[in-house]
Amino acid sequence: MKVLSKAILALSVAAVFGQQSMAQNSIPKDYLSKEFHAGRRDALRKLMPANSVAVIFAYPERVFSNDVNYVYHANPDLYYFSGYKEPDAALLVFKDLQGTGDTAFNEILYVRKRDPQQEQWTGRRLGVDGSKSQLGFKRVYNSNEFSKMPVDLKKFTTVVYDNLPDAAGGGLQAMIKSFKTKAGVKDIDKGLITDVKVVMSYANTHNLEQIIKYLKPRMQDDAHKNEPLLQQISVGMDSVALEGVKAKLKAQYGTSNVFTEYTTALRGIKQPEEIALMSKSAQLSAIAHAEVMKAIKPSMSERELEGILLYVHKKYGAEDEGYPPIIGVGANACILHYEENNETVLNNQMVLLDVGSEYHGYSADVTRTVPPTGKFTEEQKAIYQVVYDAQEQVINMCKAGIKYSDLEKKTGEVLAAGLIKLGIINDAKELRTYYPHGVSHHVGLDVHDKGPYAGNLEAGMIITVEPGIYIPAGSKCDKKWWNIGVRIEDDILIGKDKFTNLSADAPRTWQAVEKMAAQSSIFDGAKFPPLK
Ligand code: GLY
Ligand code: MN
Ligand code: MN
Repeated sequence: MKVLSKAILALSVAAVFGQQSMAQNSIPKDYLSKEFHAGRRDALRKLMPANSVAVIFAYPERVFSNDVNYVYHANPDLYYFSGYKEPDAALLVFKDLQGTGDTAFNEILYVRKRDPQQEQWTGRRLGVDGSKSQLGFKRVYNSNEFSKMPVDLKKFTTVVYDNLPDAAGGGLQAMIKSFKTKAGVKDIDKGLITDVKVVMSYANTHNLEQIIKYLKPRMQDDAHKNEPLLQQISVGMDSVALEGVKAKLKAQYGTSNVFTEYTTALRGIKQPEEIALMSKSAQLSAIAHAEVMKAIKPSMSERELEGILLYVHKKYGAEDEGYPPIIGVGANACILHYEENNETVLNNQMVLLDVGSEYHGYSADVTRTVPPTGKFTEEQKAIYQVVYDAQEQVINMCKAGIKYSDLEKKTGEVLAAGLIKLGIINDAKELRTYYPHGVSHHVGLDVHDKGPYAGNLEAGMIITVEPGIYIPAGSKCDKKWWNIGVRIEDDILIGKDKFTNLSADAPRTWQAVEKMAAQSSIFDGAKFPPLK
C-alpha cells in the first residue's frame, strides 16, 4: 500500500480508532526488567569519569523498498541501558546529579512522540508516559524537545558517545544535529574510527596477520593514508610494539573509543537476567537444529530447511533471527557467510546450517553440519571428526582464568594435526587455507557481541566455540575432499570453574547426528498443492 493511500485512509479512520484502547491480552512476561536496565545505567556511571555524560542514540530506520522499511531493530546499547526499542530516541546518563532538591535527575530519555493516527498504521508507541511507567524513567521528553535540553552539554569535561549514524532521517537527524552543536562534536572519518577501534579492541600478536589483511584494502582512502599509527602495524610485530601503537591510538582517539570500552566491559559479562534469555535463545535454536536433522532429505532445498528452523524459532516465541540464516550444501558450505540459500536440491552433499534465533534481543549462534541422507560418507565423517575433536577440546578448556587467545591456539593445533593425518596438508602453516576464521567470539545482544578478547575468560561471559574446515573444489588436495565444508558451533557460558553448553540440545558427535537423523519429524510428509 502506498504512503499516500495510507495517509488518506489514516485521516478517515483516525476519528473512529484514534483513541481506542491499546491494551493487549497476553504478551511474554520474560523481558528484561526495568530494574535490570537501571542497574546497567548505574554500572555505566561507575565507569564514567568525573563530570561526564554518556549520550546514546537510537539506530535510524532503514528503507527496505520504496515506502516499506526494514523491520526496525533497536540499537542494542540503547536497549541494554534503557529497555527502549523504538526509533527516534536518545538516552543521556549523567555521572552526577543535575540540579538540586526534589527535581534533581541523573538521566533523561528522549522518546518518539505518541501519534494515534500513525499508531493505527505502524504500531503502538510507548511515549513519555509509558516510558515512565514501564521503564521507570523519571525524566522523559518527546524527541522533538531535544534542542531544549535542560542541561548545557558544554559544561562536561567528557561527553561519551558512539559513532553517530550518518544517514538518519526524521527526529533522529534533528537530535544528532542539535547534539553536535551542543557538545561541540568534531566530524572524524567514520571508516577510520571503526578501524582504529578494531585495532584497539581486537589486535593481538596471534591475529595480526588477519587484522592486516582486513585493513589492507581500506588503507587506500585518504583518512587511512593520513593515519601513520595504522600504517605502522606490520606482520611479526612483537606484543610490546603492538601495545605501544594501541596506547598511542588510545591517546589520540580515546574519547571516541571510551563508549566502546565501557560497553565492551559491561556487555562482555552477562547478568543473570541476560543469561536466562541467552539460555532460552540458544536452547530453542538447538532444538530447531535437532528438528532439521530429523526432517532433512536429499530431495529438500536449502530454503525448506530455513523454513523449518524459523518455524521452530517462532513456535518458542523468538521474534527474529540473530543474523541472516546460513544454509549451504556442498560448495555453498565453503562460503563462510553464504546467505542466498537458493539451492533447490540437497542430494547427498553435507549441509552446513549456521542459524540462531533472536529471543527478546539475545542472539544465539549455532551451527551444525548434517548429511541429507542421514549417514556420513567416510570422507565427510573424517573431516567432521577433525572439527569435532577441535571443538570438544576447546569447549573443555572453557572456564574462568583461561587465556582467551589459548582457545585459538588449541584449535590451530588440533585442526592442523587432523588435516596432516588425513594428508590434506603437509604442514601446520597451510591450515589457514582451510580454516580462515577465528574459533570464538562473544555472543549476546549482538551475534558478534561486545566483550573483551585480550585477557582471560571470566565467569558470566558467553562465547561461541566454532572451529571449521572448508575445502572448496580446486583445493590442492585429493578431489575426494572437495566441496566438504564443516563448522560446529555452540554457545558456551563461562563459569568460575566449569562451562555450560547452552546449545547442547543439538547433537554434536557424528554418531548422535546420525541417531537424531533416524528419528521422524513433524515435517515428514508435509505436502502442499503444486503452484499453477
Ligand atoms: N553466524 C556468524 C558467526 O558464526 O560468527
Ligand atoms: Mn559465530
Ligand atoms: Mn555462526
